[in-house]
Amino acid sequence: MADKICKTFKFIVVGGGIAGVTCVEQLSYGLPSADVALITAGLQIKTVINYKQVAKVLEEFDVEEKPASVLEEKFPNLTVIHSAVKTLYTQSHLVETADGNIYSYEKLCICSGARPKLLTQDRPFVLGIRDTDSAQEFQKQLTQARRIVVVGNGGIALELVYEVEGCEVIWAVKDKAIGNTFFDAGAAHFLIPSLSADKPERAAPCRRARYTTDDPKAGELQTFTSDRHSRRGAGPTESGSALGPDWHQGLVLKGTEWASRRVSVEYQCEVETIFTSEEMLNSQSQTPKPDTEVTWPVYVLLTNGKTFGCDFIVSATGVTPNTEPFLHGNNFALAEDGGLRVDDHMATSEPDVYAAGDVCTACWEHSPLWQQMRLWTQARQMGWHAGRCMAACVLSEAIELDFCFELFSHITQFFNYKVVLLGKFNAQGLGSDYELLLRYTKGQEYVKVVLQGGRMVGAVLIGETDLEETFENLILNRMDLTQYGEDLLNPNIDIEDYFD
Ligand SMILES: Cc1cc2nc3c(=O)[nH]c(=O)nc-3n(C[C@H](O)[C@H](O)[C@H](O)COP(=O)(O)OP(=O)(O)OC[C@H]3O[C@@H](n4cnc5c(N)ncnc54)[C@H](O)[C@@H]3O)c2cc1C
Ligand SMILES: *[C@@H]1O[C@H](CO)[C@@H](O)[C@H](O)[C@H]1NC(C)=O
Repeated sequence: MADKICKTFKFIVVGGGIAGVTCVEQLSYGLPSADVALITAGLQIKTVINYKQVAKVLEEFDVEEKPASVLEEKFPNLTVIHSAVKTLYTQSHLVETADGNIYSYEKLCICSGARPKLLTQDRPFVLGIRDTDSAQEFQKQLTQARRIVVVGNGGIALELVYEVEGCEVIWAVKDKAIGNTFFDAGAAHFLIPSLSADKPERAAPCRRARYTTDDPKAGELQTFTSDRHSRRGAGPTESGSALGPDWHQGLVLKGTEWASRRVSVEYQCEVETIFTSEEMLNSQSQTPKPDTEVTWPVYVLLTNGKTFGCDFIVSATGVTPNTEPFLHGNNFALAEDGGLRVDDHMATSEPDVYAAGDVCTACWEHSPLWQQMRLWTQARQMGWHAGRCMAACVLSEAIELDFCFELFSHITQFFNYKVVLLGKFNAQGLGSDYELLLRYTKGQEYVKVVLQGGRMVGAVLIGETDLEETFENLILNRMDLTQYGEDLLNPNIDIEDYFD
């Protein structure tokens, strides 16, 4: 095979999402004379713009989708290859792309992201939302929809049920409360009224990182033109990169107005079976009858025994790392969630192969205040750290795990509220050995502090609390807060003064 090698690179990075692009930038800055290749399936790449360090670890940024040529102009020694990786030969340090070319590398970083778990394979009427194309497909289907069933309880489901208008939404969550990935029952209780209230006008600027795109068509409803088709038709691995925050901005998520916005939540249940209307007719005897005269294209039987007819189902039940093309013939250690296991240098179990972003699982010994979540910010941090480690290894320099992995932090927005999550915000892994302090002003703010042994180990801040920087500090300092007691959340005391 060696005689078929097209080109040899010092570094090859696979994937044009935030992790891959950040890794490429880091390598190109760090070692400007090195030959770097970015191999990516999609035409567009994602870049971080307007990066803002909010506090020591808290960060905010916008993301822009750009043609990959922008990167090549910036880094003369970078080559972008538009093709999907088909096979990886870790022993011989070669990758083969779908267009039949073979490239050799010294060090490789896999940043191929993840894709949504679907409820059932090969089912019509089930949509997963992942990239711009799938978000537009969702929007298109929604214009014909009277009722949809949303399954899942993470960030995407939360946004979706809030944003959809003019269509009835049945929301099936497997937990006792909505948004379990991010919130406890108290925060869910704070947010629930937003589902029936009228949404505020969108005049105020959105404070969260914004998803922007250069493609003027991308934000509006459109039928796919032929060039879009050719791009979509290129095979199952050729999916674009994952959308990030505000993926729905600019997309009007409107149904047929059959119902005004009506969300009903079905708690503690999952999907048992999905029937098409034909299957429903053909097996009338076995299938439970929904109590409605309207006929629907598809029916969902939930594990709580209820059946709902709907126009389609949105599956937002988490993601599966895109590892397939890399596994065959290799010996990657995989984590339970299917990700490539990486150590504190973002190195996988295969020699000279690194991984970053949604595709990997962080398997170093975590700081007690950090956990991996497949989020935008972590994709950037991991891509950056991987690039630094790869360069350092070539230069025989030592490198330590970056400070950003000390404390979990995330800024986002749910139901039009600013949301800041810090550390063990849901008391993850603390057993029953913790205390909670709460401050709750209906419709305005929700503040929760998680204390362990008198020290703050996590917090949830919903609304304009202005507490994020102080709390981040208190958590990082591991200061004993016992003497302050509930004053910590007393709105009449400016706690910043306390700790100056
Ligand atoms: C609808 C939606 C909403 C989200 N909202 C938020 C949010 O509000 N906040 C937040 O922090 N996170 C959010 N996320 C998660 C966030 O988007 C991801 O964590 C992040 O984008 C992961 O980045 P990545 O670079 O690891 O992977 P991706 O962005 O998925 O990029 C993967 C890249 O690899 C390429 N690729 C894949 N396979 C191959 C192959 N075989 N060969 C070559 N190239 C390949 C793809 O084309 C793509 O360019 C959301 C995700 C979705 C889907
Ligand atoms: C590209 O690499 C060559 C040598 O490999 C080096 O001389 C040149 O300076 C590099 N270009 C940039 C912009 O750093």
